[in-house]
Amino acid sequence: MLSLSTTDVPSRAPVSAVTFASGARALHIVDQTRLPGALVELALTTLPEMVEAIQSLRVRGAPAIGVAGAIALAVLAERAALENPATFHAEIASAAAALRAARPTAVNLAWAVDRVFEAGQGGGGDATPATRARAMRDEATAIFEDDVAMCAHIGAHGATLLRPGMTVLTHCNAGALATAGIGTALAPIYTMHARGDGIRVFANETRPLLQGARLTAWELERAGVPVTLLTDGMAASVMRSGAIDAVLVGADRITANGDVANKIGTYAVAVLARHHGIPFYVLAPTSTLDPQTPNGGSIHIEMRDADEVRSLAGVATAPRGVTVHNPAFDVTPASLVTAIITDQGVFHPPFHFAS
Ligand code: MRU
Repeated sequence: MLSLSTTDVPSRAPVSAVTFASGARALHIVDQTRLPGALVELALTTLPEMVEAIQSLRVRGAPAIGVAGAIALAVLAERAALENPATFHAEIASAAAALRAARPTAVNLAWAVDRVFEAGQGGGGDATPATRARAMRDEATAIFEDDVAMCAHIGAHGATLLRPGMTVLTHCNAGALATAGIGTALAPIYTMHARGDGIRVFANETRPLLQGARLTAWELERAGVPVTLLTDGMAASVMRSGAIDAVLVGADRITANGDVANKIGTYAVAVLARHHGIPFYVLAPTSTLDPQTPNGGSIHIEMRDADEVRSLAGVATAPRGVTVHNPAFDVTPASLVTAIITDQGVFHPPFHFAS
């Protein structure tokens, strides 16, 4: 794993969670485990490094891990075509399986890896490993570019639901760090901020891994968007005070009936929003829709290491052996969702997403 650059102080330059320059022979990511302290870019060249980066949340957020998985497979395919053409098929199939399985809840990862894998299966029996690898790179590039475009469309559609001067609450990080573009839940915020609409954000800290504090607060501050950080337990009283006009969250998987898997704690925010009469909006690209799964009951929720809850930055915050429950995501029932905003537009209940 090559560490390319380190800066201590964030600037306002745009941040890209994943980059894919033409001719790149590595998966380039921002190491999000180092934020907000340092902005470090990694160049990952091996399958174990790529899988580790996804599992340890160096790259994270549903669209970003989809894009990263796609680029990873394309990079590995090109190397296999060059170095081991005889074992190309077996190598690519096992890399695709490992990448696909790195995290189970966000549908984007399997969707993107499968797309790139399939792109390498075409061309008939005469296609060489090099031709197949080129088709896989083209597909990964398309996935990357589509994600950038989808974020922009989500921003435009989402902004139609908000008014200048509003204050919104968000949970976890569904911003530029979670996509190849300007984010999903944060996309309308960036869109409105760019046109001077005076939008303000309350960001839930998001226990246990603090994506709201470490990442959302960091990227919004860096962009000059007014942001106020809350610990998760504060959202109820802030909503009751009348300070929140809308909730905007991302999603890891949206089932046919509109149930939404997203970062643990999202369901609690949705219940609070309903209690306080605040609209609860879910923003996600179409790559996050999973019409094959009828409802949230069938979503595989990733369970993570107990030490994520028992300690913080290596310091114990609980008895060493205490039993811990640590699901990474929860499911918000469609009945609590005011609208789902995708790159295709604004969808109101009842939701019926078909393939
Ligand atoms: O575990 P993470 O940090 O990958 O979880 C991320 C989330 O839950 C995001 O809200 C979701 O992936 C949407 S990102 C546009």
